[in-house]
Amino acid sequence: MCGIVGYVGAKEKKEILLEGLSELEYRGYDSAGIAVIENDKLTSFKAVGKLKNLQEKTKNYTSSGFGVSIGHTRWATHGKPTELNAHPHLGKYSFVVHNGIIENYQEIKKGLQKNGVNFLSQTDTETIVHLFEQNYPKEQKAFEAFEDTIKTLEGAYAVLLISEVAPDTIFFAKSGSPLLIGFDNEEIYFASSDTPIIGKAKEVYYLEDGEYGYVKEGKVILFDKGGEKSFQTKALTLDKISAQKDGYRFFMEKEIYEQSRVMSETMMGRLKDECIDFEEIDEAFLEGIENIKICACGTSYHSALASSYLFERLAKIPCSVEIASEFRYKEPLLSKNTLFIVISQSGETADTLEALKMAKKGGLKTLAICNVDNSSIVRTSDRSILTRAGIEKGVASTKAFATQTMVLWMLSLFIGRIKGTTDAKIAKSEKDAMLHIPKALLIPDGLHEKIHRLSKRYLHGHGFFYIGRDIFYPLALEGALKLKEISYLHAEGYPAGEMKHGPIALADSKLFTIALMPRSLHYEKIKSNVEELSARDSTILAISPCAFDLADDFILTQHDSHPMIEFFEMMIITQLLALEISVRLGNDVDMPRNLAKSVTVE
Ligand code: M6R
Repeated sequence: MCGIVGYVGAKEKKEILLEGLSELEYRGYDSAGIAVIENDKLTSFKAVGKLKNLQEKTKNYTSSGFGVSIGHTRWATHGKPTELNAHPHLGKYSFVVHNGIIENYQEIKKGLQKNGVNFLSQTDTETIVHLFEQNYPKEQKAFEAFEDTIKTLEGAYAVLLISEVAPDTIFFAKSGSPLLIGFDNEEIYFASSDTPIIGKAKEVYYLEDGEYGYVKEGKVILFDKGGEKSFQTKALTLDKISAQKDGYRFFMEKEIYEQSRVMSETMMGRLKDECIDFEEIDEAFLEGIENIKICACGTSYHSALASSYLFERLAKIPCSVEIASEFRYKEPLLSKNTLFIVISQSGETADTLEALKMAKKGGLKTLAICNVDNSSIVRTSDRSILTRAGIEKGVASTKAFATQTMVLWMLSLFIGRIKGTTDAKIAKSEKDAMLHIPKALLIPDGLHEKIHRLSKRYLHGHGFFYIGRDIFYPLALEGALKLKEISYLHAEGYPAGEMKHGPIALADSKLFTIALMPRSLHYEKIKSNVEELSARDSTILAISPCAFDLADDFILTQHDSHPMIEFFEMMIITQLLALEISVRLGNDVDMPRNLAKSVTVE
C-alpha cells in the first residue's frame, strides 16, 4: 500500500528517494512522485505506473547540496491512479505526502473551496496542503500553521510536508499509519517502514500515534498533545534483508519453494525434545486465561480459523475467530479471561492494529503472531511471537500463512501443556508430526510440472469451489483466495458439507470443484460430498492420497498419517495451482492488480 520516504541533508536527494521507494515497491502501488526543495526552489515529479516511469522522468535531474525532500508511492483510495492524484500534492508553495485516510476531508474541502481554493485532484490528501497554506498567513509561523492543520484532521495519517516558507524543514505527523525517523548524525530520514532506511540511518525512532513535529538543522523537535517531548532512538539493524528471486520466475514461486526451510526456522528452539516452549510467553502471562479470541484479515484470518480447530481439539480451550474489520465495529463484549491474539504478516494492517488497540483498551492480554519485528502490531501488543518466515515479497501470501499456522499449532500444544489440558500421548504424536512438516513441504519431482500441465484446463468456466472439512475448510478458503488474487477468476472456499445447502445449485460441467480429500480426517464424509457434486456434472480436481475414480483430474499426495501433514502438503498444491493458472493468463503474479502487500487503510 502507500509508501513514504523523506530526507533532509546534503546528499543527492533524488537517488535517496527513488532507492527508498523501490524498497517499498513490493507492497503495491499505482503511481509515485517526489518533491525537493533546494536553494529555496521547489521541484517535483510524478508518474503513473511503475517506479521506472518516475526514474525515466527524473533522469536528467540531480539535487546535490543541502535540501529537504519527500517521496511517495500511492495505492489509490480517493480517485483513480492518475498523475494528478499522485503525491506529492502541491498547494501554492508547499508539498505534502500522506498515507492513510482523512475521514473529514469532504468537510475541510468544502470550507477551503468556499474560500476560493481550487482543487486539482480527487484525493483526501490535497486538503492537507491547502489547509496548511490557509493557516500560514495568519501568523506567518509555519510550525503553528502545521500544528493547526494536524489538529483539524480526523482519520488515519502519516504526513510529511515541505514548504518554501520554511525551506530547511520537514514537518511530520503520525496517527494510525506507520512513520519512523532515521538518524545518521545530521542526516535525517523518514519512511513508512524501516527497509528504505536500512544501510543509510544508524538509529531509528518509531513515532507513536498523536506525535508530530519538525526537523530543522539536523534536529528533530517532537510534540504530542502534552507539548514538546524528548524521545529515545534505538539502533537500526544494519543488515539489509533484501530478497532476490534466486533464479525463480517470481517471488511468489520462490516463497512457495522456501516453505520447507522456513518451517524449520519457525520451529527452531521452540520444538524441544521434552516439550514445546515459547520464550516469549511465560506461565504467568496465561494465568486466568479461559478462552482465546483471534482477530486477523485475509490469509492471516484463514490461518486463525484453522488454528481454532486446534486450540479446541488439542488445548481444550474455547477459541473464537473474527475478521478484524468486522470486530472493530460490532461493539464486541470483551472479558478479561480472554487471550486476544492478532495475526499479521506485515504487522501494519490497519484493521488488525485497531482491533488490537480495542482489546488492549478493554484490559485484555494481547499476543501478536507476526512476521515483521518492530512493526506497529508487534510494538503495540503485550507479547509477540515472530513467525520467522523471512521477508515475503509476493503480494499473495504463502510462506507467511504456513509459518503462522505452524506457530499457532505449536501454541495450542504449549497452552494445553501449561493448562494441563493436553493429553501427554497426544502432545507427543503432534510433536512427531511437526518434525515431518519440512519434509512434507519439499516439492516432489514432477509435481510442479504436473500442475503446470493441468492448469491449462482451468482457465475459464464460471467459477471455482474449493471444498474441505474441518481444518481443510480454512485451507479451502485460502486456496480460493490465492486463486482470486492472482488469476482474477472467481473462486470460493466452502465447507464441503454445506454445499448441498445452496451452492450445489451452481453445479454443472463448467463449475470447477477443487476437492481437498485427506485420508486422515473425515475422508468418507468429504468423499460423499464430492460424489454429490460429481453426480451433478461438476468438473472435479481431487487432491488426495486415496485414488478417487470420479475425479476428472487427480493429484496424488504422498503423506496420509496426520491431518496437519496432509494440510501443509495440500497447501503447497493449491499455491502452485494458483501460480500456474495466473502465469498462463499472463498476469503479474507478484504484484496483482488492485492489491497491496501491506494494507494500512481500513
Ligand atoms: O499483513 P497481514 O497478514 O495483516 O495482511 C492481511 C491481508 O491483507 C493479507 O493476508 C492478504 O489477504 C494477502 N494478500 C493474502 O495473500
